[in-house]
Amino acid sequence: MIINRLGVDPQRDVAEPAEDISASLEKSPVLVAELGNESVETIPNSLQTRLGAPVLHKLGAGSTRLVSIRADSQESSTVRRPQNTPETQSPHTDGCFMASPPTVVALYCSSPAASGGESVLVDGARLLEECTAELAPHELSALFRDDAYEIARGDQVLRRAVLVTERAGGPPRVGLYFSSHEFNTVDVHPDARRGFDLLARLSRDPSYQQNLDLRAGECLIFVNSRILHGRRSWRDSETAVRHFQRGWYAAHRSRVSAGVSADDLTPRAREKLLAAAGGDG
Ligand SMILES: [Fe+2]
Repeated sequence: MIINRLGVDPQRDVAEPAEDISASLEKSPVLVAELGNESVETIPNSLQTRLGAPVLHKLGAGSTRLVSIRADSQESSTVRRPQNTPETQSPHTDGCFMASPPTVVALYCSSPAASGGESVLVDGARLLEECTAELAPHELSALFRDDAYEIARGDQVLRRAVLVTERAGGPPRVGLYFSSHEFNTVDVHPDARRGFDLLARLSRDPSYQQNLDLRAGECLIFVNSRILHGRRSWRDSETAVRHFQRGWYAAHRSRVSAGVSADDLTPRAREKLLAAAGGDG
């Protein structure tokens, strides 16, 4: 997996970095943008300028443009997210409990942990390649069922597909909407069980993972249905408290394609996957 890096000069016209970000994500699904030091007050607008209108997070009683991720969260217990602990979170797609998960996810590092807390990335193309090799056609087809699994995150519950054919021009694309981590619960359809468990096993296998240690002022931006993401556990100290802010974006969907392109797969995997997507596997 190639991780592009982009320096964003605050003196430049903001339209240009936005174009740069879209173009970069289209070529390679992971980008680290060096935004520099932004405050909690300025980062929501700064990201919105570059990534478009945000998909709102439903958090307790309210909605918010960015979600604060830190272990010492000042948020009241009614809106406190279970993810706001320093524990490991296994790789997943964000927002699977929503009918339209975000196309793009941004994770801005306000300050890194004293130790640990690396972001973990898993390439969806590699997962699809392995799934097509390991699973029988009917097991692969079951991942495309719209009742493949039910996911619950607090009071948000949705039954959905794991793999989705993305509607876009150009080569066919398959989006990966897999979420089974420490802070949600899932109920998997028996026919989809083998494929779901395979995705869980592979995405937790270190040989499929790439770690990324973000510095303050860096923003990890990635295509949500093409890359699974998680994090390692961490330790804060008196002077180093890990604080990330996460935003979800959909507005650039026309310019940033969701899912894995069939062109990124071997011919054998492409043929088997598209046959399974068509239901004739
Ligand atoms: Fe996440």
